[in-house]
Amino acid sequence: MSPPSPSVRGVTIALDVEEIRSHFPILHRILPNGKPLVYFDNAATSQKPLVVIDAMSDFYKQYHANAHRANHTLADESTAALESARDRIATFFGTNENQMIYTGSATEAMNLVAYGWARYNLEEGDVVVTTEMEHHANIVPWQELSKERGIELRFVPIDTDKFTLDYDAMEVAIQGASLVCVGHVSNVLGVRNEIERVIEMAHSEGARVALDSAQGAPHERINFDELGADFCSIAAHKMAGPTGIGCLLVRPEALSEMGPFLTGGSIVKRVSKEDTLFQDGYAMFETGTPRMAEAIGWHAAVDWLEENIDFDEAHEHVHGIASWMASEMREIPGITVFGNPEMEEAIGVVSFLHDTIQAQDLGYLLDAGGFAVRTGHHCAQPLMEAMGVGSTNRASVWFYNTMEEAEAFVSHLRNVVERFS
Ligand code: ALA
Repeated sequence: MSPPSPSVRGVTIALDVEEIRSHFPILHRILPNGKPLVYFDNAATSQKPLVVIDAMSDFYKQYHANAHRANHTLADESTAALESARDRIATFFGTNENQMIYTGSATEAMNLVAYGWARYNLEEGDVVVTTEMEHHANIVPWQELSKERGIELRFVPIDTDKFTLDYDAMEVAIQGASLVCVGHVSNVLGVRNEIERVIEMAHSEGARVALDSAQGAPHERINFDELGADFCSIAAHKMAGPTGIGCLLVRPEALSEMGPFLTGGSIVKRVSKEDTLFQDGYAMFETGTPRMAEAIGWHAAVDWLEENIDFDEAHEHVHGIASWMASEMREIPGITVFGNPEMEEAIGVVSFLHDTIQAQDLGYLLDAGGFAVRTGHHCAQPLMEAMGVGSTNRASVWFYNTMEEAEAFVSHLRNVVERFS
């Protein structure tokens, strides 16, 4: 095992990245074109350590059965694993299992706020605030509800000089609002919003706050009970866990105001031909066969993160690499880097475009060198519009990326631009 490098090109490498990488089989992959994989698409989905893959495989090999439905040994083991995962994951996020609802994704969690809370509590003329920096998951449910209920939807703009939210505009927009929906970290710009300030502003107006932490949770430890948001959506697959599972964290007062969203089995106390009596608390929202393998995989992921990753060191590492990449990429003729990955509030995302090579083409040309980046509008078209572009290429860094990968990436991009522009 090689010792961690204290500094590469002025970037402090606080983590033992080689040791960390040894847990992720896919990071050692050689692509069909013979190039070693360099994975810079972490904001889309992160890779999984072997313990997560093994935990899920073990469930299917050893004790797969439907949870909460039978008394046989396998069903008991499966139920125990599902509930122990809930307890562990909720604790990891600084709350308890009664405040966590398993969902299929962070998007589904935000829909649960719209259809399980807002639909029961908001009326025509009530105000919901969102921002133009949001992922579509934090825009479209509100637009749909606004059409259905006549709710007024207000958008907080971004400050296009600083690429942050315009907090003065936020202060005005929040006046008289019932709900404020804000992203923790932008998936396009990597900027970490001042969520503590937004929560305080919103609560002083008596509004509830829904936080979209899909991009925040992989980079910072969330203490939900301390943070004070009323709702918080999280995706497991962006933080070393499996796809197909996420959660909504909910404060007790907000949970008591919620009603059923998706209905059917599992969430009921009694069903007659005339009516249904629903379960209480989180159990009212998890209809159908539970996401057992996914919860078990997520449990393994949070255990692995707790044991292996110091989030402050990881942040320093990720921020150092992304800032270095951004400053080098700005020197490449024709490349524009959006936002400000160098600023302290930014987390590991470098969105960029070349002025003559189309984003899709650049994506393929980077892939030819083994570099995986995302290309497109990143499910954030209102933000793209505010930035005056239709799409970008996006390199997103996580703790298992190395400075050597960043150097190889910048060098390949420079060559591609020299050759094709
Ligand atoms: N929301 C994910 C992304 O930003 C998929 O790529």
